[in-house]
Amino acid sequence: MTTTRHLISVDDLTDGDIHRLAARGVRFREGTAAAGTPLAGHLAGIYFRKTSTRTRTAFTAGALRLGAQTIAYGPDDLQTNTGETVEDTAQVFGRMLDVLVARTAGDPAELRAFAAGNRMSVINAMSAPEHPTQALTDLTTLLWHFGHVDGLRVLYVGEGNNTAAALALALSRYRSAHLDLRTPPGYGLTGEVLARIDPKVVTERHDMKDLPEGVDVIYTTRWQTTGTSKPDANWRNIFAPFQVTADLWRGSPDAVFMHDLPAHRGEEVTAEVLDGPRSIAFDQAENKLHSAMAVLEWCRGADPAP
Ligand code: CP
Repeated sequence: MTTTRHLISVDDLTDGDIHRLAARGVRFREGTAAAGTPLAGHLAGIYFRKTSTRTRTAFTAGALRLGAQTIAYGPDDLQTNTGETVEDTAQVFGRMLDVLVARTAGDPAELRAFAAGNRMSVINAMSAPEHPTQALTDLTTLLWHFGHVDGLRVLYVGEGNNTAAALALALSRYRSAHLDLRTPPGYGLTGEVLARIDPKVVTERHDMKDLPEGVDVIYTTRWQTTGTSKPDANWRNIFAPFQVTADLWRGSPDAVFMHDLPAHRGEEVTAEVLDGPRSIAFDQAENKLHSAMAVLEWCRGADPAP
């Protein structure tokens, strides 16, 4: 019988799953994963209600490379727009698709409803509270670049959005990693996420004072997260001190720069940093493909045995 696993939250993964998925992403990146088309005969629905360059392309390309075929759905394509329920849509999808990759940018309960029949794997390509496939990409990138994730010190500067939430949840599975979040006041991790992270691994402040020195990674995200708007008209003033500039490298000259992209040069990060020699942001973007392939394999039980 075919395996049907879902990835809707980082919390759907065991520690072993997380470590293996990151390692598998590195193998795809390095070209050392076994060749073949383990998903031949599979059909993947790629449903994006919000804009995407990387995640949509990564999962489409990844599914095709693994031998699956894909059907793309945009925001105006499904009868949910005319009142059909998600539950009914899920029943239909489950009888025709093997995998549904969905970016709703909304409540993950909708993704759980798609997954309820357990007839197809559902992958969260970004919901409002969490972006779990971004976190797996980020772990893949850390493992690929440093050779390990344990022991790494990451300074994250920017909004406590779905990328930050997923990263905090994922790094919490590495007991000797440390994630120092500097989030603008009023734009930090939600209480719901804070209750799920390991406080020994993840700390959060809402200022840029006393920054740690000797960190391995400085990470930021764009100020306007896809599919969201900010309630405070003065939000740019609140975010301004949290711009990532070359000054941040004074205490951490060896740190690499990561960004989930898309970027707005001159807002969350200067062009000098994003396009500079310490930036691995576009390697990180490439790793979305390798990580997506690892996730697709795992969801269908086509991953190598542990
Ligand atoms: N980082 C990320 O999810 O990029 P896209 O919005 O382009 O998919």
